Amino acid sequence: MNPDVKQNDTNLNWQVVAPGVWRAVAGEDNYVSLLGTIGVPPRTEALAGLGAAELPFSKDEIGWKRARGNLLLALPLDETEKLYGLGLNFDTLNQRENVRELKVDHYGLYDNGHTHAPVPFYVSDRGYGVFVNVAERIKVYAGTTHPTALPHPPIYDRVTDPRWRGVSVSRRVEMLVPGAGAEVIVFAGPTMLSAVQRFNLFCGGGCLPPRWGLGFWHRVPMSFNAADTEAEARAFTERDFPLDVIGLEPSWHTAAYPTTYEFSPARFPDPRAFVDTMKRQGIRINLWENCMIHPDCRLGKQIRPHSGDYYAGWGGLIADLALPAACEALAAQHDREHVAIGVSGYKLDECDGLDPWLWPDHAEFPSGLSAVQLRQMYGVLFQKLTTEIFRKRGRRTYGQVRASNAGGVSFPYVIYNDCYEHRQYITGVINGGFCGVLFTPEVRGAHSPEEWLRRVQAVCMSPLAQLNAWANRVLPWSFPEVADAVRDVMKLRVQLIPYLYSAFARYRHEGVPPFRALALDGCLPKTEEAYVQGKTDDTANPYARALCRDIRDQYLMGDSIMVAPLFAGEQQRDVVIPRGRWYDFYTGQFVGEDTVIAVSGKHRDIPMFVRDGGIVPLLTEARNQAPAPGATMPLEIRHYGEAEGAFQLYDDDGDSMAYEQNDCCWLPLAVKRGAQGKLAGSTGPASGRYHSTYRIDQWRFMPGRP
Ligand code: GAL
Repeated sequence: MNPDVKQNDTNLNWQVVAPGVWRAVAGEDNYVSLLGTIGVPPRTEALAGLGAAELPFSKDEIGWKRARGNLLLALPLDETEKLYGLGLNFDTLNQRENVRELKVDHYGLYDNGHTHAPVPFYVSDRGYGVFVNVAERIKVYAGTTHPTALPHPPIYDRVTDPRWRGVSVSRRVEMLVPGAGAEVIVFAGPTMLSAVQRFNLFCGGGCLPPRWGLGFWHRVPMSFNAADTEAEARAFTERDFPLDVIGLEPSWHTAAYPTTYEFSPARFPDPRAFVDTMKRQGIRINLWENCMIHPDCRLGKQIRPHSGDYYAGWGGLIADLALPAACEALAAQHDREHVAIGVSGYKLDECDGLDPWLWPDHAEFPSGLSAVQLRQMYGVLFQKLTTEIFRKRGRRTYGQVRASNAGGVSFPYVIYNDCYEHRQYITGVINGGFCGVLFTPEVRGAHSPEEWLRRVQAVCMSPLAQLNAWANRVLPWSFPEVADAVRDVMKLRVQLIPYLYSAFARYRHEGVPPFRALALDGCLPKTEEAYVQGKTDDTANPYARALCRDIRDQYLMGDSIMVAPLFAGEQQRDVVIPRGRWYDFYTGQFVGEDTVIAVSGKHRDIPMFVRDGGIVPLLTEARNQAPAPGATMPLEIRHYGEAEGAFQLYDDDGDSMAYEQNDCCWLPLAVKRGAQGKLAGSTGPASGRYHSTYRIDQWRFMPGRP
């Protein structure tokens, strides 16, 4: 037992809610629950499928007490334990030795807990997770506190003692939860990944986007009308660049900021005909909107009695999305005017903050939720509302949102932000995997052809491959020097859809994040210390702490591919090659095992590596759009390295909700060594009711063997 935690704390009454998942209520039962309000049930069967597991500590070591109108939770921590998660961070992975106030907010360029998805969940490298299921701004002290009721931490003289460190080691996590009660849920591992899987499944299981959502996206300028948009789509076709989705920015409304949600008759005189024309070219339409409802539009008039008592951002009403009447009005209007005519989804802007744009903390809402509670959940409530509109029509959606939280994992939305720091964007993609959200490092512009290429490459290996460069009109071919390389990576994205779609199916069914940190997969190199990133010398930064050692610029995409993006201006970059043998994605050449390699900044393609035995199914032919439902999909199945391998290839119609009724298919792919020691590929019997349109064209054993 960790002696630092229990003193003076009150016991909790733990209940098993699923194998390896326990819950307890600290204090009163009157907290506002994130999952309860959002109303997503746990994936009970899938959780049971993970089997039983134990925590690496006794639950008796978790205690609580009241603290001036708040509730203080205290949890144990080993001396060297690492903690990941605590929301969508962009600079750090390991959260130990940090203090975070988990608040839905616009990201302010450094990690302090104010972020687009401040999910109150952490996972420990000791193989367990902790989730506080409360819609409040929780303050987390992740191994920084030392109550004086306990012996003081070791004291070292700063001047003479080399053991002095920037932060004294604390052996407790403290969480200050506003209010008198909190629900605490703990998830067993035994690995970090299995603890995250349990958390994701408990929150509803990962989302499965439609297949077209994994194609390429592009957003058009504010001034564009229907004809301009149609011409833009033609330009992509003429130049042979992939395109599956076009996003309309504020221009499609009769008025935006605040927003009417009505098509402008001047710019889009016949929205249905416009959506149809685009659909005939295989292109879906996504609509930008924000959460500020124009008080004078039709919806505004309906929503006023169901909205807060303050106008927000530019004079808009804020619908109380915890109120069924508000949701019904919004859903009916969106369904009638957008979804029914074929619109494919939304991008909900500004629902995170900044503070001056949103409602104040003292605003009142008719549902009785506090302004803070509603803000913590607004993005997720919107995701649920819109996902349901599509579900009722038997369709899937995929969209973007600026705010999320626990309970959002099952909704097909990807977070984006305005910070535009390329490295932070990559760290955001990685951190999403620790807390049940997806992030896109969307491309908005570039100062050089090199930067343009590097950004497009990275976004193509992310949950949502999108150009959001409408404001400065940069197009995929705008930098002729790199246009071919840009086209190639966009096409590779489309070719990888069978692999990515299967990774998302694992997200939905098993809770495994499709994009994740090396640390989460447990494949970090043996001697991590050798791979210090952002190394700082003692004079420049004597307070440099262990968290600098995170690998923040490379990640796993699906089960077998590791992506190590290049950044503009780099002469060369280090790539950490984890344990096990790894191979170059493009050539199949062996690159190393538990080591660091240097990749030249002149490398044309985005560096990607595949683990030994990795199987990667790709569309055989380069194409510009995701295959339509029912289309035959010739596949090349690549195998890398020397080890035998296995892959579960997932398929369904790619668009409808039928997969939820098991109208889907899992095709086992295997590579085994025959009697002569030769590798050979085979497919097992498919399971599920769906008749897949995949056709295996060739098995390709990398390198080179046809
Ligand atoms: C920003 C958003 C951009 C764009 C713009 C429209 O807040 O991040 O992607 O949609 O608003 O006004």
